[in-house]
Amino acid sequence: MNKKGYFGKFGGSYVPETLVEPLRVLAAEYERYRKDRKFNEELGELSEKYAGRPTPLYHSKKLSEHCGCRVYLKREDLCHTGAHKINNAIGQALLAKKMKKSRIIAETGAGQHGVAAATVSALFGIKCQVFMGAEDISRQSENVCRMKLLGADIIQVDEGTRTLKEAVNATLREWTRDPENTYYLLGSCVGPHPYPMIVRDFQSVIGREVKKQIKEDPTHLVACVGGGSNSIGLFYPFFKDRETELIGVEAEGAASLGRGRIGVLHGSRSYVLYDDNGQIVNTHSVAPGLDYSGVGPEHAYFKDLNRARYCRIGDAAALKAFRWMVSSEGIIPALESSHAVAWVMKNKWKKKDIVVICLSGRGEKDLDIVMKG
Ligand SMILES: Cc1ncc(COP(=O)(O)O)c(C=O)c1O
Repeated sequence: MNKKGYFGKFGGSYVPETLVEPLRVLAAEYERYRKDRKFNEELGELSEKYAGRPTPLYHSKKLSEHCGCRVYLKREDLCHTGAHKINNAIGQALLAKKMKKSRIIAETGAGQHGVAAATVSALFGIKCQVFMGAEDISRQSENVCRMKLLGADIIQVDEGTRTLKEAVNATLREWTRDPENTYYLLGSCVGPHPYPMIVRDFQSVIGREVKKQIKEDPTHLVACVGGGSNSIGLFYPFFKDRETELIGVEAEGAASLGRGRIGVLHGSRSYVLYDDNGQIVNTHSVAPGLDYSGVGPEHAYFKDLNRARYCRIGDAAALKAFRWMVSSEGIIPALESSHAVAWVMKNKWKKKDIVVICLSGRGEKDLDIVMKG
């Protein structure tokens, strides 16, 4: 990444004038704290004692038998609050505290990032507002209750498809109203510089732990891709390990890397789903966290470098993998993570392959969708 936040031709910062200075300050403060010993000690302590890291790397014998190779699950579902989102939320909330911000705002789709942001805001005693599309509010009601219990205000967004894209728009707009006192805790590796870098750094703990936990080098790393944070967190520490193949799994109805074109969305240049008139295309996925028309710029860079491969899985296959995991492994995975499991179950493997799947979150939030479905 260069100083302006470009990963090759992707990334950058395409924002209104009012956000130029707040982003510059954020980048400078992050640069200062990322190397700060006390900051990193505090982050390490919270990650371990509060969030429950390191998460286990579990050898799934049943999935291994099913696929005919060795399959491991990186159990981010066992993190406090139920998903990888807490890794980033703790890091950014610590930054907000150091920057003396009195309010945290966040967007959420599946509600997992909203819950993580509300959790760390409660922990640090900072007021929290979460922007969420009306459609997501109705399909992730359990997480809405959790956020309210944690003391966050939920701001319902009624525009457009009433999902994550509009929630990000509304949060960015709110930030322009009071950047002085407000910290925007962005939940994925998207948005203007420095967010893709900050989120990647805080999520890279996933891949670093896998490196320590696995005895032989993995041949394949597989993770679902919404905005791209759990996948970049797993992939990034393996970037130079050319013998390890990196596979991102998008939702069939929201495949920005698979079907998108280069464009600008939410302040950065990446692959985006838009039509011939330049209008953002409405997406669909049974997994709210994947239901997004853009993707983090570093993934766009990985794609163009041919360093990572991006595949697609539809709702039906994801739901089938979800049910298989529940009945065969006794694990209820998030519908987002079920996309990664489904791709691994579908693919042909060699006996010597060693596959690590990022099980990004747990699926209690999705029980309504699954039971209806
Ligand atoms: C459990 C879970 N996995 C994956 C995602 C997708 O996000 P990302 O691609 O940033 O990891 C989400 C988003 O809400 C999620 O809740």
